[in-house]
Amino acid sequence: MSAHNRQLLLDPGFELTLRPMRYPQFYEMYRNAIRNTWTVEEVDFSLDLNDLKHKFGPAERHLIERLVAFFATGDSIVSNNLVLNLYRHVNAPEARMYLSRQLYEEALHVQFYLTLLDTYLPDPNERAKAFAAVDNIPSIKRKADFCFKWMDSVHGLHRIETREQRRQFLLNLVCFAACIEGLFFFGAFAYVYYLRSRGLLHGLASGTNWVFRDESCHMAFAFEVIRTAREEEPELVDAGFAAQVAQMLREAVDCEHAFAEDTLSGGVAGLSLKDMRQYLEYCADQRLAQLGFAREFGASNPFPFMDLQDVQELTNFFERRVSAYQVGVEGEVGFDHAF
Ligand SMILES: [Fe+2]
Ligand SMILES: [Fe+2]
Repeated sequence: MSAHNRQLLLDPGFELTLRPMRYPQFYEMYRNAIRNTWTVEEVDFSLDLNDLKHKFGPAERHLIERLVAFFATGDSIVSNNLVLNLYRHVNAPEARMYLSRQLYEEALHVQFYLTLLDTYLPDPNERAKAFAAVDNIPSIKRKADFCFKWMDSVHGLHRIETREQRRQFLLNLVCFAACIEGLFFFGAFAYVYYLRSRGLLHGLASGTNWVFRDESCHMAFAFEVIRTAREEEPELVDAGFAAQVAQMLREAVDCEHAFAEDTLSGGVAGLSLKDMRQYLEYCADQRLAQLGFAREFGASNPFPFMDLQDVQELTNFFERRVSAYQVGVEGEVGFDHAF
């Protein structure tokens, strides 16, 4: 504990006391996450194989190859940061319950994309290439390097004692929630929902609905951690911090734009690089607003198919009844009537 006499969320240590509970909102998020359990086995990728074989030209094929190559390692990077950095420093057992649940969900995402790659890329050499993309494909390596830069910036911190160390930690949290889950993944989801809007790859889109929902909850948790830390220690977030966050989001938009230049290099009909850029700027603005900072771009959402997605996601998010999927005691999941 630092100079103050009240235990704060970012005070170093491994607090064990659940009662009285200091942050019931994190426990509620954990309970809500448990209600929204799904399994990879419910997703039928075989639907997609016919599309890939008969309805995809070279430009779409290139897009999907790049997309699965990004998915091949994205969630593993997020999982590593979660265990190595976030779990260590968010010091409340109820918040750590949520992070444990999130770790399970990230493992599900890894399994989901592993199954996707195994199905879409039957040739073992093609598969191996996709998993090595993080080293070999520049537009994917650039995104990974962005993640690693922010992971490395806190990796040596075993205790976050000083204001500067806590800011470093919060920047890592912002990076993973706003830039990676909230921008890199949202960009990837936009390709999936664009294809769905053309009647393509319904198997991938149906599984993406679940991942989208999970990622939205992960972001909401991280933003609540940041909001709480800021409420407890207002001095952590000053104009300098806000400027660093804005700069980070600009960099993330540039990384994802470079990825879009690559994915769309074949000229995918109906999906322009300009619109993709605008969507990324729109997402970045949303994240800044969610964090309580000024928007950077003033961009509107150019993709009606993502608007629908947002509404659906928000409905689920706030209603909490979640008609789309809910695990009962028997473990049944009402997937057929979803979406
Ligand atoms: Fe994930
Ligand atoms: Fe996530």
